[in-house]
Amino acid sequence: MFLVVVVLSLPGFIHSFQPLFSFDGNSTTHRDITQRAVLRKTAEVCRDIAASEGRDFSLTIDDSLTVARVQRACSSAGTSTSLVSTVMFRTSIANMYFSNAKVDVAFALSEEHHFDDETFQGGRDIITAGVSAVKASVKLESFIAGRWTLGRVCHTLQDFYSHSNWVELGNKAPYSALIRPDQPLENLAGPNTPTCRSCTGGNCADNLLPELLQQGLLTSGYFNIFSSSKPAGKCSHGGSFDKTSKQDPVGGISKDDTGSSHGSLHHKAADLAVNATMELLEDIRVATGDKNFLRLMGLSQSSVLCFVIDTTGSMSDDISEAKRVSFDIIDRKRGTEQEPSAYILVPFNDPGFGPLTMTTNADVFKDRINKLTASGGGDIPELCLSGLQLALTAAPPSSEIFVFTDAPAKDAHLKSTITALIESTKSVVTFMLTDVLASRRRRRSLQGTSPRSMSQSDAQLYRDLARASGGQSIEVTKSDLSLATSVIEDSSASAVVTVFQVVRNPGRPDNFTFTVDGSLRNMTAYITGAPSLTFNLTSSKGVSQSSSQSSGPLASFTTAGNLRRLSLNTDNQTGSWEISVASSSPYSVKVTGQSSVNFIYNLVEAHEGAHGDFSLKEGRPLSGGNASLLVSVTGSDTVKVTEVTLFDSSGPTEVNGSLQAVGSGNFLVTFSGVPAGDFAVRLRGEDSSSSSRSTQSGFQRQAPTQIKTSSISVTAQANNSNIEPGSTISIPFTVTTTSNGVVNNSATGSFTVRANNDRSYPSASPSTVTVAAGSGGKANATVTLTVPASATSGTDVTLTIEAENAAATDTNYAVLRFSVSSKVTDISRPVCQVVSSSTSCPSSSSLCASSQWKFVANLTDGINGTGIESVTVRQGNGTLNTSTVDGAGGENITVATYSASCCAQSVELAVVDRVGNVGTCGGQARESTTATPATTAAVSTTSTGGHTLGISYCLWISVAVSLLWK
Ligand SMILES: *[C@@H]1O[C@H](CO)[C@@H](O)[C@H](O)[C@H]1NC(C)=O
Ligand SMILES: *[C@@H]1O[C@H](CO)[C@@H](O)[C@H](O)[C@H]1NC(C)=O
Ligand SMILES: *[C@@H]1O[C@H](CO)[C@@H](O)[C@H](O)[C@H]1NC(C)=O
Ligand SMILES: *[C@@H]1O[C@H](CO)[C@@H](O)[C@H](O)[C@H]1NC(C)=O
Repeated sequence: MFLVVVVLSLPGFIHSFQPLFSFDGNSTTHRDITQRAVLRKTAEVCRDIAASEGRDFSLTIDDSLTVARVQRACSSAGTSTSLVSTVMFRTSIANMYFSNAKVDVAFALSEEHHFDDETFQGGRDIITAGVSAVKASVKLESFIAGRWTLGRVCHTLQDFYSHSNWVELGNKAPYSALIRPDQPLENLAGPNTPTCRSCTGGNCADNLLPELLQQGLLTSGYFNIFSSSKPAGKCSHGGSFDKTSKQDPVGGISKDDTGSSHGSLHHKAADLAVNATMELLEDIRVATGDKNFLRLMGLSQSSVLCFVIDTTGSMSDDISEAKRVSFDIIDRKRGTEQEPSAYILVPFNDPGFGPLTMTTNADVFKDRINKLTASGGGDIPELCLSGLQLALTAAPPSSEIFVFTDAPAKDAHLKSTITALIESTKSVVTFMLTDVLASRRRRRSLQGTSPRSMSQSDAQLYRDLARASGGQSIEVTKSDLSLATSVIEDSSASAVVTVFQVVRNPGRPDNFTFTVDGSLRNMTAYITGAPSLTFNLTSSKGVSQSSSQSSGPLASFTTAGNLRRLSLNTDNQTGSWEISVASSSPYSVKVTGQSSVNFIYNLVEAHEGAHGDFSLKEGRPLSGGNASLLVSVTGSDTVKVTEVTLFDSSGPTEVNGSLQAVGSGNFLVTFSGVPAGDFAVRLRGEDSSSSSRSTQSGFQRQAPTQIKTSSISVTAQANNSNIEPGSTISIPFTVTTTSNGVVNNSATGSFTVRANNDRSYPSASPSTVTVAAGSGGKANATVTLTVPASATSGTDVTLTIEAENAAATDTNYAVLRFSVSSKVTDISRPVCQVVSSSTSCPSSSSLCASSQWKFVANLTDGINGTGIESVTVRQGNGTLNTSTVDGAGGENITVATYSASCCAQSVELAVVDRVGNVGTCGGQARESTTATPATTAAVSTTSTGGHTLGISYCLWISVAVSLLWK
């Protein structure tokens, strides 16, 4: 019992840079450090790409960069007038810092994850194994998994600068050995070497032993919340929760915030942590290439085009329409910034679904969709939700997914899993349903088998999922499908935002208002409902138009099946608009537009304890409890948020949040006593930027995905997020019953448990858990997950553990993300040996264009290496050719031959092996006054102080090539 209490309150004992927020207004958090490093490194990559393409890049790269400025500078169109959405970049950075912050919760007591207790080797192993996993994920284009691992790795790296005496030793540069597994960790204070003396009068400024500093020995503070014991003479971390710091030598050395024992060095440590994070990002950049690196950072403006398509016999018209509309989008946008960042296709039928195609190559997608044929099926429902599940886990967060089907789902049991996935990815799912029957009952065909057609109740499943995600359920005849697919074209436009969305089920006449602001372009409203539905639109200037006019002063609209699509004419009519809908059947209204002003949000939960910070909350908030959101406004640095509301889109309930600005356009929003229900997040604000003219323009945005509350709490914690192929991990989880947001100690009951993973890996879990009397309202159990030995390193796995009450009226879930990573044994970087170079460069630079110089190097990956995978020119604009030859010992040698004009007399090559170890190698053509020809010089490799320095010289006639390992 004691242990349970302690473990539950552990997250409070944060002992690192503050994860997300700094409430002293003064300290740098892991969130700040990560964001600064990501923005600077991303800007550097964009600068280098611009230089190589001969484009201007005027952005100054320093810590004043904002997400919006980097995104704009990186956009190759680069024009300040183009519509730029930073939602994806923001979301990706947020995923990195949330996973960074989670280390303080998931690994609160692991000294290696924080470089406590002088665990330098252990901490370095976590970093280098994690970096290998990130590279493996990028190779498989699993960018989401890559970001989660990267965030986690950065936490440990950043903590080194706060928890060790690296800063106190006077170092001005990052400790590079922490990201280089092939370098020894040197000058570590031995286990018996005393490192600290007691602080005097609470002042710890001078507590590191002078001998330690003189000898340049590295140490870190001991930390323990249970016991005060530590090796004799060792430094502590310090702070009220660290018991070891109460023991002689008392006090600590941490630089976590300005109030820490060595708080005066906090900013120095944080600045170094930024540079160290950049160094790690640079290593990943070189290993993965600039383009993939930018994708890992989430620097993409365009969304993915994602189709999930039923391929049974009756679907051939639908398939051709999906083909037509996707080809049209591809052909119009290819090569532009609006080209979809990736294409995803998942076919399904019965008994199969998949495989998933995810590609950045439009031609591959075209080819796959061309090969879809409608066949088989007939009278059976199809595996629609299984196909959708694949798409939801592969697509980046906040994607829009289009599902084409004319059949009921056979796998309706996946509904709650799909809903959980929708909530956690915030992806929008729109269904294109053809030939839904008007009646509730399915006809029986002459043969006595039921035809494929969907009844109203079958369609309701799709409507519910559409609604939960903020998508639509569009129901048309096959012949009208082409009129409805304009919604797909609309969603592929740049910077689409949702202004307002509501569902009325059951239907009733109602009036809705929404705010049109000056930044909105091309506003479109969608109304789905029965053919008898009528509406009336009134603009802010009092102009009106009724649904009897398909083209009028405010809108022109088209009707296809249950969908009316209105193109709004909002010119000079900013302000409050109203739409009145008259219908007694269910209907939905959605108003969108294009604008760079939008917001992202994530549920976060507070930890009690020393600093009181927050981490990402996955799963549903508790009914009747408090909920907190971290909200980030995108697209404008001049926006003021005035109101964030949770409102029940089907009823009158609204909960207003209290706002607290936490910097960089981020707000912590707290809602108290959120009742049971389904809520949408609506944000209102004012934009005082010049684009909205002199008047302050009010705006509103709504997040499409709904937030549901639950009275069940499901928490799960894995002790590792990387799993080796062929191994099984156990994940303990706890199901708790709550009322009004707190544990209901006296509640009892049994819960259905479902554990699903998106890879269909073998997994075992109890099918029910029981909260017994006297158990304090809790039940504990374990899920196991086995990764097959054949799984590829870098594969991501998402495990969802759901618990549902006996009446099946309430569900909650926990989401865990893993990546498969094999143990990396090749830790050495590729080796480069200059073989020869030829041709002299003339001494007169005016003649350089007419001469060429050449550089030849042998590249090997050592005897135990995984082999060279890529050689790229990092500097120089000459031509590189590579060929492979067998070396004397049977090893593979890659021969790199670089030739360039004498006007550019240096080259740097990046050599990457199959697991992403990076070596760089450079050469320079120099004029020599010596006319003596020389044969190839021997290559000497010396090892000094842990930094492998292989220096090779090669002289050939008058060219000297020098080679330097970096
Ligand atoms: C910020 O830190 C400085 C010293 O680094 C201190 O003097 C100042 O009082 C701090 N301000 C706040 C608001 O804590
Ligand atoms: C970090 O790197 C930048 C740019 O390379 C440099 O100007 C700055 O001094 C470095 N900061 C620290 C604390 O080393
Ligand atoms: C909608 O507005 C009209 C006109 O202002 C009003 O007559 C009607 O009662 C309103 N309907 C509802 C449901 O509020
Ligand atoms: C709005 O739509 C028109 C065509 O319908 C298009 O030319 C224009 O580029 C769109 N505006 C924006 C900001 O994308």
